[in-house]
Amino acid sequence: MRHACLPHPMLAPSPAPIQGKPLGLATAHTTTLVGLDAHPIRVEVCSTRGPAFFQMVGLAGSTVREARVRVASSLARLGILLDEHAITVNLAPAELRKNGGALDLAIAAGVLGAMGRLDPAALEGTVLLGELSLDGRLQPTRGVLPQLEGSRARGFRRAIVPSGNAAEAGLAQAMEVFMANDLEAVVRHCDGRGELARVRPTRFTPHLETSGLDLSAVRGQAGPRRAVEIAAAGNHNLLMVGPPGGGKTLLARTLPTLLPPLTFDEAIEATAIHSVVGLVDPDLGIVNVRPFRAPHHSVSDAGLIGGGDVPRPGEVSLAHHGVLFLDELAEFRRSTLEALRQPLEDGRVCIARARARAWFPAAPLVVGAVNPCPCGYHGHPQIDCRCSAAERRRYVTRLSGPLLDRLDVHVFVPPVDVRSLSTSQPGEASAAVRTRVVAARERQLERARRGEATGTTNSTLSLSDLERVAPLDGRARSLIERAVRELGLSARAYVRVLRVARTIADLEGTDRVIEAHVAEAIQGRVIEGR
Ligand SMILES: Nc1ncnc2c1ncn2[C@@H]1O[C@H](COP(=O)(O)OP(=O)(O)OP(=O)(O)O)[C@@H](O)[C@H]1O
Ligand SMILES: [Mg+2]
Repeated sequence: MRHACLPHPMLAPSPAPIQGKPLGLATAHTTTLVGLDAHPIRVEVCSTRGPAFFQMVGLAGSTVREARVRVASSLARLGILLDEHAITVNLAPAELRKNGGALDLAIAAGVLGAMGRLDPAALEGTVLLGELSLDGRLQPTRGVLPQLEGSRARGFRRAIVPSGNAAEAGLAQAMEVFMANDLEAVVRHCDGRGELARVRPTRFTPHLETSGLDLSAVRGQAGPRRAVEIAAAGNHNLLMVGPPGGGKTLLARTLPTLLPPLTFDEAIEATAIHSVVGLVDPDLGIVNVRPFRAPHHSVSDAGLIGGGDVPRPGEVSLAHHGVLFLDELAEFRRSTLEALRQPLEDGRVCIARARARAWFPAAPLVVGAVNPCPCGYHGHPQIDCRCSAAERRRYVTRLSGPLLDRLDVHVFVPPVDVRSLSTSQPGEASAAVRTRVVAARERQLERARRGEATGTTNSTLSLSDLERVAPLDGRARSLIERAVRELGLSARAYVRVLRVARTIADLEGTDRVIEAHVAEAIQGRVIEGR
């Protein structure tokens, strides 16, 4: 029971301002990211003269808690010592966990405002982003683009960012963004003693080649080349099956060169995702090539799908609008591949945490490559396969399952004759194939614009879309019905065959889907029974 003589703590009189100094108050603005969502944070600072302390309340993550060391040291560089100052920083809203070093600048500015070293009114309406070094310099921070975009969406029209983030910040639309090298420059700007330079709009020029690879490097392999073209044209996920050395990895790596150049909106989305993990080239400021991600088969679930205490995007999101290549598919943990199913269906990943849910887009073109059996040589014309039928079945079963159903185009990549590599002519170059791919995609976009299809590529057409945009004539219908009966196509595989047939017709530039298109689409499903 509470002792009758002690006042209730809530009723205790607030400490009288010491040495007659009034309480200093200031509010600065910044944001914290949850996934790609930037939540606005008000940094409220109260400063009184008194025994020195610096406390921070409002669910600060560990990097944010450490800000006080960086802030105190940066202020000392300006000749401002916190001795005899009692400083309380409140990060609001209280229920949201704040992460990252980007809050440093707002905390420092708030402290200066509360101490009367900077006009608090100058902080109104400006979002401050940037991590401080001990000497007061501003370090580039992660996630600047999504933070600026989120701030604008919440009504902010002005921001200050580290100069090292200028190129990325130059992508922010309808915002006045200033850049600073250090805290001192920010103080001078706020005091009206020297305006900071504005970041210049970043120009966007899409690039096509990622790795210097070109489809012309692939000799022979007409079937697999065709499969890669169809996959690119309809944005269909692709599975390549074949013995070692047939060029599966080579073909997958050339795929980004067949895709249309990134649009500005796609580039912005890809940049925001890469920015969260610090993967944007600071000089370019933008992701201007289609991403190509090839995680090793030992990748963790979180590495592939995304996760972590502070949610980070995984490979499937880093490959958004590009290619996710899963080489040696059979070596991936089954649980990891299973975890990929939902994102592939929804086109995004949700990472649930106790206090918030983080979302990341995740709609890459997925390419898997795998040998046909454990020894790799099943189907090889010269080398005998050492696996028993049971071993082969087990191997295929390891692969099978709903993930395979989500890979629309399956193709067998035969071994290449080494002698033919030196004598055969280079194949068609990526640019020529890309021209056809772009034309086929334009037809798909046109259907979406006319409202005939919900998605912008054939890979997302629903069954009712397909009935509208890919009506089958009698022969095509009886062919697919036979395939359902004889190959045991699942319902999902049936839809996928129709989508691929639609793409084949688009590559031909025809509206009608005929028997030949369906036949080619069915042929592209080499894993039996799927
Ligand atoms: N069709 C081809 N044209 C030109 N080069 C090829 C071709 N196929 C393979 N190569 C060359 O052979 C090497 C092996 O090819 P790659 O790694 O793509 O084969 P793979 O099918 O992925 O084999 P594995 O199953 O062992 O992974 C590469 O260096 C590639 O340049
Ligand atoms: Mg390979």
